[in-house]
Amino acid sequence: MTESKKILVTGANGLLGQKVTELFAHETSHELILTDLHDHAFESRGFDYFPMDITKKEEVKEAVKKYDPKYIINTAAYTNVDGCETDRELSWKVNVDAVKHFIIASRINSSKIIHISTDYVFDGKSGNYSEGSKPNPLSYYGKSKLAAENALLTSGVDCAIVRTMILYGKGKDLRPNFAIWLLQMLSEKNKVTIVDDQFGMPTIVDDLAWGIVKIADLNKSGMYHICGSEYCNRYEFAVKLAGIFGLNENLIMPIKTSDLNQAAARPMNSSFILLKAETDLGLKPLNVTEGLNLLKVQLGL
Ligand SMILES: NC(=O)c1ccc[n+]([C@@H]2O[C@H](COP(=O)([O-])OP(=O)(O)OC[C@H]3O[C@@H](n4cnc5c(N)ncnc54)[C@H](OP(=O)(O)O)[C@@H]3O)[C@@H](O)[C@H]2O)c1
Repeated sequence: MTESKKILVTGANGLLGQKVTELFAHETSHELILTDLHDHAFESRGFDYFPMDITKKEEVKEAVKKYDPKYIINTAAYTNVDGCETDRELSWKVNVDAVKHFIIASRINSSKIIHISTDYVFDGKSGNYSEGSKPNPLSYYGKSKLAAENALLTSGVDCAIVRTMILYGKGKDLRPNFAIWLLQMLSEKNKVTIVDDQFGMPTIVDDLAWGIVKIADLNKSGMYHICGSEYCNRYEFAVKLAGIFGLNENLIMPIKTSDLNQAAARPMNSSFILLKAETDLGLKPLNVTEGLNLLKVQLGL
């Protein structure tokens, strides 16, 4: 994609939104327009930024009409899985209704929507999910994300959907993701209990953002699975993190998911098959050791 295009990024203050913005800014000459619920979390780098609540249909319509983006990259979501279970109305508004607002706006402008979804659309009973595997969400978060996928896929608008999982990475003024939280806890010599029965493929946000930029570059449509290349449980991830950052792994105690009494049920094994992203996009995702080493460099540790 050599021609400069307008790209609207929602959730620009979030973990993925910040990284997508950084990559587009460094590697392309596209005109970025950034938005999120609140004021800007970081310097605008010369891009337009405006706060917008994506659950407000008229605001979304007006913004898409005004900026006329070629691509809308929707990284905004209500991502608190247990919060979604208890505040279902808000979860549906942000994760489903807002996507429908973008669909309606895109019909007028012919914008393409690149939307982010989750491994939580699967029940985690078998793992090894490909893009064609049958979803069966266990949680309200997963149900809301699946409903958004279905709204997009049946809308007729040009779209790509990227499912990912266990995102970690560096950003500014973020709620701590799993790796950053763990780093803080272990650095302060706190004991932590981590589940050893939830398996997945942890994803450094850089790999996901790279895949999204590539989807835009190559103008790909349809479903893509993008995550890290290594399958492990959360406890194994935590022990590797302690080793790489020179922290005390004896502070980490394994526990079972059933000990946590979380509001939302989690898939126990939501591993992805990445063949489509590897073949179509040239994705070469990092394993856990590589991802954590990159994070260490980024944090200057
Ligand atoms: N994080 C993971 O492990 C993970 C795993 C699988 C899939 N995903 C998906 O990946 C995407 C990006 O996740 P992330 O970790 O980057 O999320 P994040 O850091 O929580 O960022 C989401 C952003 O959306 C904003 N937002 C929430 N409600 C909004 C509204 N009504 N209007 C406008 N903006 C709103 C949030 O603002 P506030 O912070 O002010 O609420 C936040 O800045 C999401 O679609 C998520 O479902 C994430």
